[in-house]
Amino acid sequence: MSTIERIRRARVARLLDHEDLQRAAARALPRGIREYVAGGSEDEVTLARNAQAFRDVAFRPRMATWVPEPELATTVLGTRVDLPVLTAPCGGLRLVHPDGDLGFAKAAAGAGTVHVASSAAGFTLEDIASVEGPKWFQLYRFSSHETMEHLMRRAQDAGYSALVATVDTAVSGYRVRDFKNGFSYSMRVNARNAVKLAPQLLRKPAWLARYVLDGLPFEIPNTARITADGKPMVLTEMTKGGAGSHSPTWTDIDWLRANWRGPLVVKGLLTVEDARRAVDAGADAVIVSNHGGRQLDGAPATLTVLPRIVDSVGDRAEVLLDSGIRRGSDVVKALSLGAKAVLAGRLPTWGLAAGGTAGVERSLELLRTEMIRTMRLLGCHSVAELDRSWLDEDTLPSAIKEVETP
Ligand SMILES: Cc1cc2nc3c(=O)[nH]c(=O)nc-3n(C[C@H](O)[C@H](O)[C@H](O)COP(=O)(O)O)c2cc1C
Repeated sequence: MSTIERIRRARVARLLDHEDLQRAAARALPRGIREYVAGGSEDEVTLARNAQAFRDVAFRPRMATWVPEPELATTVLGTRVDLPVLTAPCGGLRLVHPDGDLGFAKAAAGAGTVHVASSAAGFTLEDIASVEGPKWFQLYRFSSHETMEHLMRRAQDAGYSALVATVDTAVSGYRVRDFKNGFSYSMRVNARNAVKLAPQLLRKPAWLARYVLDGLPFEIPNTARITADGKPMVLTEMTKGGAGSHSPTWTDIDWLRANWRGPLVVKGLLTVEDARRAVDAGADAVIVSNHGGRQLDGAPATLTVLPRIVDSVGDRAEVLLDSGIRRGSDVVKALSLGAKAVLAGRLPTWGLAAGGTAGVERSLELLRTEMIRTMRLLGCHSVAELDRSWLDEDTLPSAIKEVETP
């Protein structure tokens, strides 16, 4: 391990929870990037609701029980994971830190879990795949089936075991903070925006130095080289609001199912109807997600809608959840309400900003230790035992209570 890596690890080891990580990230990042990560859409009602839903639910512990070593391992789509927390697909990570998506993939592998690589990653999907460990590939809807087919073929050749279709981004959510900060992760560095962003960037000389040494990466390499007529950046066309949906429609899902060999995951569902439709179309798993409150503001908290979805499709597909995970105890609550595993987006991103790969490792380690402590205090030996009996019924919102306890 290099000396720099050792110093980074020692520094992040002093950060005791994700609030510390977020504070360290805030110190490291220029405002535009910090708020790009932290922000939600419009009034950020859903962003706040996500985390609040976890806070509102109380545990129902079984005291006087000694649990020496709670078991956190489970499987997702047949892959064993030591930690039921996957690293979520996040675009723009290389702007946060040069380790970017590779840092996510390395830390996920180190924690014994899956990294879901974003099609808007800062590294090529082949570079990310070269990091050992299980990986899934997340796909948006691009301007043509040829483009998507090309990406899918590359992902399949590179060894991604599952394809994740994100369906909650028909258009981009209105993330006002990004507009106010003059920031977009798909923007190009040019004289005009360099002048506009300069005051923010110059305030963070360490970030700026790293970014310059990394070669000013503003490209999204997975989509930059692939159009048939040699046009760069399909994703830029998409984010500028092209004619079609930015995420797969149901027709595309059928097409993806027919063309992807292996498990298909549909990410971004919030209702029983859509979950049933995805599973009927051949999805092997669904991710209950509102994109971390970054898309439709006013969407429900994912924890609230989870039990109904588990109730309706849980016997035919695996149900995962993201949006609002802030503690290991949140993971335990989601699993108690039927999620097979969760994904975390912002937490490992704060870790990445605070200390590169070492910071992401710290984030996953914090989630692991928090889960273990929670389960020991609950008196629960294994994630396989988690169900609603570990939660205080009186604190469950009515939307959850409606679903009969199995
Ligand atoms: C900075 C950032 C970038 C994201 N980029 C993507 C993306 O490229 N594809 C995608 O499906 N979801 C993306 N998401 C959503 C995450 O995959 C995930 O659904 C969300 O972060 C979960 O909420 P949490 O941040 O509260 O954990 C992004 C989220 C963040 C914070």
